[in-house]
Amino acid sequence: MNQDTLLSIEDKVISNALKIRFYPMAVASAHGTRLMDEAGVSYLDLSAGWAVAGIGYGHPRIAHQLKKQYETISFTSQLTIPEKNMVGLAQKLIEITPGSFEKKVWFGHSGSDANDCVYKLWPLVRNRSRLVSFMGSYHGQTMGSLSLSGHPAQAKFIGHGNVVKLPYPNPYRPPFGETQALTSQVISYIENELFRTICPPEDTAGLIVEGIQSDGGLIVPPDDFLPELQKLCQRYDISLIFDEVKVGMGRTGKWFSFDHYNLAPDAVVVGKSLGAGLPISAVIARKELLDAGFGVHMFTASGNPVCSIAALENIAILEEERLIENAAENGAYFLKLLEELKQRYEWIGDVRGRGLAIGVELVEDRSSKIPAAEKTAAVCYRAFELGMLVFYVGIHSNVIEITPPLTISKQEIDLAVSILDQALKDLENNNIDMEKVRQYAGW
Ligand SMILES: Cc1ncc(COP(=O)(O)O)c(C=O)c1O
Repeated sequence: MNQDTLLSIEDKVISNALKIRFYPMAVASAHGTRLMDEAGVSYLDLSAGWAVAGIGYGHPRIAHQLKKQYETISFTSQLTIPEKNMVGLAQKLIEITPGSFEKKVWFGHSGSDANDCVYKLWPLVRNRSRLVSFMGSYHGQTMGSLSLSGHPAQAKFIGHGNVVKLPYPNPYRPPFGETQALTSQVISYIENELFRTICPPEDTAGLIVEGIQSDGGLIVPPDDFLPELQKLCQRYDISLIFDEVKVGMGRTGKWFSFDHYNLAPDAVVVGKSLGAGLPISAVIARKELLDAGFGVHMFTASGNPVCSIAALENIAILEEERLIENAAENGAYFLKLLEELKQRYEWIGDVRGRGLAIGVELVEDRSSKIPAAEKTAAVCYRAFELGMLVFYVGIHSNVIEITPPLTISKQEIDLAVSILDQALKDLENNNIDMEKVRQYAGW
Protein backbone atom coordinates (compact mmCIF):
# COMPACT_ATOMS: atom_id res chain seq x y z
CA MET A 1 0.00 0.00 0.00
CA ASN A 2 1.54 3.32 -0.92
CA GLN A 3 1.65 6.24 1.49
CA ASP A 4 -1.18 8.24 -0.13
CA THR A 5 -3.48 5.21 -0.10
CA LEU A 6 -2.61 4.38 3.49
CA LEU A 7 -3.29 7.96 4.60
CA SER A 8 -6.61 8.12 2.77
CA ILE A 9 -7.80 4.83 4.33
CA GLU A 10 -6.55 5.96 7.71
CA ASP A 11 -8.53 9.14 7.24
CA LYS A 12 -11.69 7.06 6.73
CA VAL A 13 -11.28 4.57 9.57
CA ILE A 14 -9.41 6.27 12.42
CA SER A 15 -11.14 8.62 14.83
CA ASN A 16 -10.16 12.28 14.61
CA ALA A 17 -10.18 12.31 18.42
CA LEU A 18 -6.80 10.59 18.18
CA LYS A 19 -5.14 13.02 15.78
CA ILE A 20 -2.83 16.02 15.78
CA ARG A 21 -1.45 16.38 12.26
CA PHE A 22 1.20 18.71 10.89
CA TYR A 23 1.88 17.10 7.47
CA PRO A 24 1.09 13.96 5.46
CA MET A 25 3.42 11.38 6.93
CA ALA A 26 2.94 7.68 7.61
CA VAL A 27 5.78 5.51 8.79
CA ALA A 28 6.95 2.24 7.24
CA SER A 29 10.00 1.58 9.44
CA ALA A 30 11.99 3.28 12.19
CA HIS A 31 15.57 2.84 13.41
CA GLY A 32 17.72 4.93 15.72
CA THR A 33 16.87 8.59 15.17
CA ARG A 34 15.20 8.04 11.78
CA LEU A 35 11.78 7.21 10.39
CA MET A 36 11.25 5.94 6.86
CA ASP A 37 8.05 6.40 4.83
CA GLU A 38 6.56 3.96 2.28
CA ALA A 39 8.51 5.55 -0.56
CA GLY A 40 11.79 4.93 1.27
CA VAL A 41 12.36 8.58 2.20
CA SER A 42 14.26 8.85 5.48
CA TYR A 43 13.48 11.57 8.04
CA LEU A 44 15.49 12.76 11.02
CA ASP A 45 13.11 12.70 13.99
CA LEU A 46 13.28 15.73 16.28
CA SER A 47 10.20 14.69 18.22
CA ALA A 48 10.93 11.06 19.19
CA GLY A 49 7.19 10.47 18.72
CA TRP A 50 6.24 13.09 21.32
CA ALA A 51 9.27 12.17 23.47
CA VAL A 52 8.49 8.47 23.72
CA ALA A 53 11.46 7.10 21.73
CA GLY A 54 14.00 8.38 24.29
CA ILE A 55 16.59 5.76 23.34
CA GLY A 56 15.59 5.95 19.67
CA TYR A 57 13.72 3.35 17.63
CA GLY A 58 14.26 -0.39 17.47
CA HIS A 59 17.04 -0.72 20.02
CA PRO A 60 18.38 -4.30 19.62
CA ARG A 61 18.66 -4.85 23.39
CA ILE A 62 14.96 -4.06 23.86
CA ALA A 63 13.99 -6.25 20.88
CA HIS A 64 15.95 -9.14 22.37
CA GLN A 65 14.40 -8.80 25.84
CA LEU A 66 10.87 -8.52 24.45
CA LYS A 67 11.14 -11.74 22.48
CA LYS A 68 12.65 -13.60 25.41
CA GLN A 69 10.02 -12.24 27.80
CA TYR A 70 7.07 -13.07 25.58
CA GLU A 71 8.29 -16.62 25.23
CA THR A 72 8.72 -17.00 29.01
CA ILE A 73 5.72 -15.16 30.51
CA SER A 74 3.70 -13.30 27.90
CA PHE A 75 1.29 -11.95 30.49
CA THR A 76 0.16 -12.04 34.07
CA SER A 77 -2.20 -9.60 35.66
CA GLN A 78 0.02 -8.18 38.34
CA LEU A 79 -3.10 -7.13 40.23
CA THR A 80 -3.52 -10.71 41.32
CA ILE A 81 -0.44 -12.77 40.41
CA PRO A 82 2.76 -10.66 40.36
CA GLU A 83 6.12 -11.56 38.79
CA LYS A 84 9.65 -10.25 39.07
CA ASN A 85 9.99 -7.66 36.27
CA MET A 86 7.41 -5.30 37.72
CA VAL A 87 8.86 -5.65 41.21
CA GLY A 88 12.42 -5.11 39.92
CA LEU A 89 11.29 -2.08 37.96
CA ALA A 90 9.63 -0.60 41.05
CA GLN A 91 12.86 -1.10 43.01
CA LYS A 92 14.88 0.59 40.28
CA LEU A 93 12.49 3.54 40.02
CA ILE A 94 12.60 4.00 43.78
CA GLU A 95 16.42 3.95 43.60
CA ILE A 96 16.68 6.68 40.95
CA THR A 97 14.05 8.93 42.53
CA PRO A 98 15.42 11.25 45.23
CA GLY A 99 14.04 11.38 48.78
CA SER A 100 15.20 9.40 51.79
CA PHE A 101 11.62 8.58 52.86
CA GLU A 102 9.91 5.25 52.22
CA LYS A 103 8.43 5.04 48.71
CA LYS A 104 6.12 2.82 46.71
CA VAL A 105 5.27 2.63 43.01
CA TRP A 106 1.97 2.49 41.12
CA PHE A 107 1.92 1.35 37.45
CA GLY A 108 -0.33 2.29 34.55
CA HIS A 109 -0.24 2.57 30.75
CA SER A 110 -0.09 6.28 29.98
CA GLY A 111 0.73 9.63 31.45
CA SER A 112 -3.00 10.25 31.70
CA ASP A 113 -3.88 7.26 33.89
CA ALA A 114 -0.84 7.96 36.08
CA ASN A 115 -1.95 11.55 36.66
CA ASP A 116 -5.43 10.20 37.30
CA CYS A 117 -3.84 8.23 40.13
CA VAL A 118 -2.82 11.53 41.68
CA TYR A 119 -6.21 13.06 41.00
CA LYS A 120 -8.09 10.17 42.64
CA LEU A 121 -5.84 9.08 45.48
CA TRP A 122 -4.48 12.32 46.91
CA PRO A 123 -7.78 13.80 48.16
CA LEU A 124 -8.74 10.38 49.50
CA VAL A 125 -5.52 9.74 51.41
CA ARG A 126 -5.04 13.25 52.65
CA ASN A 127 -8.68 13.85 53.46
CA ARG A 128 -8.41 17.23 51.75
CA SER A 129 -10.57 17.81 48.69
CA ARG A 130 -8.65 20.32 46.57
CA LEU A 131 -5.70 20.15 44.20
CA VAL A 132 -3.62 22.88 42.58
CA SER A 133 -2.08 22.88 39.10
CA PHE A 134 -0.91 25.37 36.49
CA MET A 135 -2.44 27.03 33.45
CA GLY A 136 -0.74 25.78 30.31
CA SER A 137 -0.01 22.38 31.86
CA TYR A 138 -0.84 19.19 30.01
CA HIS A 139 -1.42 16.23 32.32
CA GLY A 140 -3.59 14.00 30.13
CA GLN A 141 -6.97 13.29 28.61
CA THR A 142 -8.81 11.12 31.13
CA MET A 143 -11.32 12.94 33.34
CA GLY A 144 -8.99 13.28 36.33
CA SER A 145 -5.90 14.22 34.37
CA LEU A 146 -7.80 16.64 32.14
CA SER A 147 -9.20 18.26 35.26
CA LEU A 148 -5.60 18.84 36.39
CA SER A 149 -4.64 20.24 32.97
CA GLY A 150 -4.69 23.87 31.92
CA HIS A 151 -3.99 23.47 28.22
CA PRO A 152 -6.21 24.44 25.25
CA ALA A 153 -6.23 20.75 24.20
CA GLN A 154 -8.55 19.98 27.13
CA ALA A 155 -10.47 23.24 27.17
CA LYS A 156 -13.54 21.80 25.42
CA PHE A 157 -14.19 19.73 28.53
CA ILE A 158 -15.17 21.13 31.87
CA GLY A 159 -13.07 19.23 34.35
CA HIS A 160 -13.88 18.58 37.97
CA GLY A 161 -14.24 21.69 40.07
CA ASN A 162 -11.84 20.76 42.85
CA VAL A 163 -8.72 21.76 40.89
CA VAL A 164 -7.56 25.37 41.11
CA LYS A 165 -5.21 26.64 38.41
CA LEU A 166 -2.39 29.11 38.70
CA PRO A 167 -0.34 31.13 36.24
CA TYR A 168 2.99 29.42 35.41
CA PRO A 169 6.04 31.68 35.74
CA ASN A 170 6.87 32.12 32.07
CA PRO A 171 9.97 34.37 31.83
CA TYR A 172 9.26 35.26 28.17
CA ARG A 173 5.59 36.11 28.77
CA PRO A 174 5.46 36.92 32.48
CA PRO A 175 1.89 36.45 33.76
CA PHE A 176 2.03 39.56 35.96
CA GLY A 177 3.69 41.70 33.32
CA GLU A 178 7.25 41.82 34.71
CA THR A 179 10.09 39.32 34.43
CA GLN A 180 11.84 40.58 37.54
CA ALA A 181 10.79 38.89 40.76
CA LEU A 182 8.65 36.45 38.81
CA THR A 183 9.09 33.72 41.41
CA SER A 184 8.10 35.87 44.35
CA GLN A 185 5.12 37.23 42.43
CA VAL A 186 3.72 33.76 41.73
CA ILE A 187 4.54 32.40 45.21
CA SER A 188 2.98 35.45 46.86
CA TYR A 189 -0.08 35.11 44.60
CA ILE A 190 -0.54 31.54 45.81
CA GLU A 191 -0.02 32.36 49.45
CA ASN A 192 -1.75 35.71 49.71
CA GLU A 193 -4.50 35.48 47.12
CA LEU A 194 -5.27 31.88 46.26
CA PHE A 195 -4.95 30.37 49.73
CA ARG A 196 -6.87 33.22 51.33
CA THR A 197 -9.75 33.20 48.87
CA ILE A 198 -10.76 30.12 46.91
CA CYS A 199 -8.33 27.41 47.98
CA PRO A 200 -7.72 27.07 51.72
CA PRO A 201 -4.39 25.27 52.20
CA GLU A 202 -5.78 23.07 54.98
CA ASP A 203 -8.17 21.61 52.39
CA THR A 204 -5.50 21.27 49.65
CA ALA A 205 -4.12 17.77 49.14
CA GLY A 206 -1.48 18.37 46.50
CA LEU A 207 0.08 20.65 43.91
CA ILE A 208 1.15 19.18 40.57
CA VAL A 209 3.72 20.88 38.37
CA GLU A 210 5.80 20.23 35.26
CA GLY A 211 9.45 21.14 35.88
CA ILE A 212 9.51 22.38 32.29
CA GLN A 213 6.03 23.09 30.99
CA SER A 214 6.21 21.11 27.77
CA ASP A 215 3.01 21.20 25.73
CA GLY A 216 2.46 24.63 27.25
CA GLY A 217 5.45 25.82 25.17
CA LEU A 218 8.67 24.32 26.57
CA ILE A 219 8.70 26.93 29.32
CA VAL A 220 11.61 26.79 31.73
CA PRO A 221 10.70 28.57 34.99
CA PRO A 222 13.18 30.87 36.78
CA ASP A 223 15.86 28.94 38.70
CA ASP A 224 14.48 29.80 42.12
CA PHE A 225 10.87 28.92 41.33
CA LEU A 226 10.73 25.17 41.92
CA PRO A 227 12.78 25.31 45.14
CA GLU A 228 10.49 28.06 46.44
CA LEU A 229 7.45 26.05 45.40
CA GLN A 230 8.72 23.08 47.39
CA LYS A 231 9.25 25.29 50.45
CA LEU A 232 5.73 26.68 50.10
CA CYS A 233 4.25 23.18 49.91
CA GLN A 234 6.23 22.16 52.98
CA ARG A 235 4.99 25.23 54.88
CA TYR A 236 1.39 24.16 54.32
CA ASP A 237 1.90 20.38 54.35
CA ILE A 238 0.71 20.14 50.73
CA SER A 239 2.11 17.27 48.64
CA LEU A 240 4.33 18.35 45.78
CA ILE A 241 3.93 16.21 42.67
CA PHE A 242 6.17 16.52 39.62
CA ASP A 243 4.75 15.43 36.27
CA GLU A 244 7.89 14.16 34.52
CA VAL A 245 6.02 12.32 31.77
CA LYS A 246 7.65 14.29 28.97
CA VAL A 247 10.90 15.67 30.35
CA GLY A 248 11.83 12.90 32.80
CA MET A 249 13.94 9.76 32.26
CA GLY A 250 17.10 11.64 31.37
CA ARG A 251 15.84 14.10 28.77
CA THR A 252 17.07 17.24 30.55
CA GLY A 253 20.52 15.79 31.27
CA LYS A 254 19.57 14.37 34.67
CA TRP A 255 17.07 11.66 35.53
CA PHE A 256 14.40 14.25 36.33
CA SER A 257 13.99 17.94 35.61
CA PHE A 258 13.82 18.72 39.35
CA ASP A 259 17.21 17.04 39.90
CA HIS A 260 18.73 20.28 38.58
CA TYR A 261 17.59 21.89 41.85
CA ASN A 262 18.25 18.97 44.24
CA LEU A 263 14.58 18.66 45.15
CA ALA A 264 12.85 15.61 46.59
CA PRO A 265 9.15 15.83 45.68
CA ASP A 266 6.53 13.71 47.44
CA ALA A 267 5.57 12.10 44.13
CA VAL A 268 6.95 11.77 40.61
CA VAL A 269 4.90 10.78 37.57
CA VAL A 270 6.65 9.13 34.62
CA GLY A 271 5.40 7.68 31.33
CA LYS A 272 6.15 8.18 27.63
CA SER A 273 9.83 7.16 27.24
CA LEU A 274 9.78 4.91 30.33
CA GLY A 275 8.84 1.88 28.22
CA ALA A 276 11.10 2.63 25.22
CA GLY A 277 7.97 2.65 23.02
CA LEU A 278 5.86 0.23 25.01
CA PRO A 279 2.96 1.69 26.99
CA ILE A 280 3.84 1.93 30.67
CA SER A 281 3.62 4.72 33.23
CA ALA A 282 4.37 4.98 36.92
CA VAL A 283 3.87 7.10 39.99
CA ILE A 284 6.71 6.91 42.50
CA ALA A 285 5.60 8.44 45.78
CA ARG A 286 5.75 8.44 49.54
CA LYS A 287 4.48 5.05 50.63
CA GLU A 288 1.50 6.42 52.55
CA LEU A 289 0.23 8.37 49.51
CA LEU A 290 -0.04 5.27 47.37
CA ASP A 291 -1.53 3.04 50.05
CA ALA A 292 -5.01 4.54 49.97
CA GLY A 293 -6.67 1.13 49.99
CA PHE A 294 -6.74 -2.07 47.95
CA GLY A 295 -7.87 -1.89 44.33
CA VAL A 296 -8.77 1.80 44.26
CA HIS A 297 -6.94 2.63 41.00
CA MET A 298 -6.05 -0.43 38.94
CA PHE A 299 -5.90 -1.58 35.34
CA THR A 300 -5.79 -5.26 34.40
CA ALA A 301 -2.55 -5.04 32.43
CA SER A 302 -0.78 -2.51 34.72
CA GLY A 303 2.97 -3.18 34.94
CA ASN A 304 2.63 -6.27 32.75
CA PRO A 305 5.84 -8.30 32.36
CA VAL A 306 6.50 -7.30 28.73
CA CYS A 307 6.23 -3.55 29.34
CA SER A 308 8.12 -3.85 32.62
CA ILE A 309 11.09 -5.64 31.06
CA ALA A 310 11.20 -3.00 28.32
CA ALA A 311 11.34 -0.27 30.98
CA LEU A 312 14.03 -2.08 32.99
CA GLU A 313 16.20 -2.60 29.93
CA ASN A 314 15.55 1.00 28.88
CA ILE A 315 16.90 2.27 32.20
CA ALA A 316 19.96 0.01 31.86
CA ILE A 317 20.58 1.39 28.34
CA LEU A 318 20.25 4.99 29.55
CA GLU A 319 22.87 4.27 32.21
CA GLU A 320 25.27 2.07 30.27
CA GLU A 321 25.23 4.03 27.00
CA ARG A 322 25.59 7.31 28.92
CA LEU A 323 22.56 8.78 27.19
CA ILE A 324 21.72 11.16 30.02
CA GLU A 325 25.20 12.66 29.72
CA ASN A 326 24.65 12.84 25.96
CA ALA A 327 21.39 14.71 26.52
CA ALA A 328 23.21 17.28 28.67
CA GLU A 329 26.16 17.75 26.32
CA ASN A 330 24.39 17.62 22.96
CA GLY A 331 21.44 19.58 24.32
CA ALA A 332 23.80 22.42 25.21
CA TYR A 333 25.32 22.19 21.72
CA PHE A 334 21.86 22.30 20.12
CA LEU A 335 20.86 25.34 22.19
CA LYS A 336 24.05 27.17 21.22
CA LEU A 337 23.39 26.63 17.49
CA LEU A 338 19.77 27.70 17.89
CA GLU A 339 20.89 30.87 19.71
CA GLU A 340 23.08 31.61 16.67
CA LEU A 341 20.12 30.98 14.37
CA LYS A 342 18.08 33.40 16.46
CA GLN A 343 20.56 36.17 15.57
CA ARG A 344 19.62 35.70 11.90
CA TYR A 345 15.82 35.65 12.15
CA GLU A 346 13.75 38.36 13.80
CA TRP A 347 10.88 35.85 13.98
CA ILE A 348 12.70 33.77 16.53
CA GLY A 349 11.56 35.46 19.71
CA ASP A 350 13.03 33.03 22.20
CA VAL A 351 15.15 29.90 22.38
CA ARG A 352 15.10 27.99 25.66
CA GLY A 353 15.39 24.58 27.17
CA ARG A 354 17.46 22.18 29.17
CA GLY A 355 19.24 19.15 27.78
CA LEU A 356 17.24 17.78 24.87
CA ALA A 357 13.98 19.50 25.81
CA ILE A 358 14.17 22.66 23.73
CA GLY A 359 11.64 25.22 22.51
CA VAL A 360 11.96 27.78 19.73
CA GLU A 361 9.22 30.39 20.01
CA LEU A 362 8.26 32.25 16.83
CA VAL A 363 6.77 35.75 16.96
CA GLU A 364 5.69 38.28 14.35
CA ASP A 365 8.36 40.62 15.71
CA ARG A 366 10.43 40.77 18.85
CA SER A 367 8.92 43.95 20.25
CA SER A 368 5.24 43.01 19.99
CA LYS A 369 5.89 39.28 20.66
CA ILE A 370 2.67 38.51 18.77
CA PRO A 371 2.65 34.71 18.47
CA ALA A 372 3.40 33.62 14.88
CA ALA A 373 1.28 30.44 14.82
CA GLU A 374 0.91 30.15 11.05
CA LYS A 375 4.63 30.74 10.49
CA THR A 376 5.40 28.02 13.05
CA ALA A 377 3.12 25.58 11.22
CA ALA A 378 4.83 26.53 7.95
CA VAL A 379 8.34 25.95 9.32
CA CYS A 380 7.36 22.50 10.64
CA TYR A 381 5.72 21.65 7.31
CA ARG A 382 8.73 22.80 5.29
CA ALA A 383 11.12 20.92 7.60
CA PHE A 384 9.12 17.78 6.81
CA GLU A 385 9.52 18.41 3.08
CA LEU A 386 13.25 18.80 3.71
CA GLY A 387 13.49 15.47 5.54
CA MET A 388 12.96 16.27 9.22
CA LEU A 389 10.08 15.62 11.61
CA VAL A 390 9.37 18.34 14.13
CA PHE A 391 6.11 19.44 15.79
CA TYR A 392 4.92 22.57 17.50
CA VAL A 393 3.38 23.14 20.93
CA GLY A 394 2.40 26.05 23.17
CA ILE A 395 -0.84 27.65 24.21
CA HIS A 396 -0.44 29.96 21.20
CA SER A 397 0.70 27.12 18.87
CA ASN A 398 3.92 28.96 18.12
CA VAL A 399 6.71 26.98 19.77
CA ILE A 400 8.76 24.46 17.80
CA GLU A 401 9.31 21.55 20.14
CA ILE A 402 12.68 19.82 19.97
CA THR A 403 12.68 16.55 21.92
CA PRO A 404 14.75 14.14 19.79
CA PRO A 405 15.97 10.71 20.87
CA LEU A 406 18.73 11.13 23.46
CA THR A 407 21.04 9.28 21.07
CA ILE A 408 21.14 12.21 18.62
CA SER A 409 24.68 13.04 17.49
CA LYS A 410 26.34 16.43 16.91
CA GLN A 411 26.34 15.78 13.14
CA GLU A 412 22.58 15.18 13.26
CA ILE A 413 22.14 18.36 15.29
CA ASP A 414 24.12 20.27 12.62
CA LEU A 415 21.78 18.81 10.01
CA ALA A 416 18.69 19.68 12.07
CA VAL A 417 19.74 23.30 12.47
CA SER A 418 20.58 23.62 8.78
CA ILE A 419 17.10 22.29 7.89
CA LEU A 420 15.45 24.75 10.28
CA ASP A 421 17.59 27.51 8.76
CA GLN A 422 16.48 26.51 5.26
CA ALA A 423 12.81 26.32 6.31
CA LEU A 424 13.00 29.81 7.84
CA LYS A 425 14.74 31.12 4.72
CA ASP A 426 12.01 29.59 2.55
CA LEU A 427 9.40 31.24 4.73
CA GLU A 428 11.16 34.58 4.37
CA ASN A 429 11.24 34.17 0.57
CA ASN A 430 7.59 33.06 0.38
CA ASN A 431 8.70 29.66 -0.87
CA ILE A 432 6.34 27.63 1.27
CA ASP A 433 2.98 26.53 -0.10
CA MET A 434 0.70 27.94 2.60
CA GLU A 435 -2.36 26.23 1.08
CA LYS A 436 -0.76 22.89 1.88
CA VAL A 437 0.21 24.02 5.37
CA ARG A 438 -3.38 25.10 6.12
CA GLN A 439 -4.74 21.64 5.34
CA TYR A 440 -3.36 20.45 8.65
CA ALA A 441 -5.13 21.41 11.82
CA GLY A 442 -2.18 20.95 14.17
CA TRP A 443 -3.36 22.00 17.62
C1 LIG B 1 3.71 16.36 30.93
C2 LIG B 1 2.72 15.37 30.40
N1 LIG B 1 1.96 14.69 31.25
C3 LIG B 1 1.06 13.79 30.83
C4 LIG B 1 0.87 13.54 29.49
C5 LIG B 1 -0.15 12.55 29.05
O1 LIG B 1 0.47 11.40 28.64
P1 LIG B 1 -0.28 10.33 27.71
O2 LIG B 1 -0.50 10.98 26.39
O3 LIG B 1 0.66 9.17 27.67
O4 LIG B 1 -1.55 9.98 28.41
C6 LIG B 1 1.63 14.25 28.56
C7 LIG B 1 1.44 14.04 27.11
O5 LIG B 1 1.88 14.77 26.28
C8 LIG B 1 2.58 15.18 29.02
O6 LIG B 1 3.35 15.89 28.17
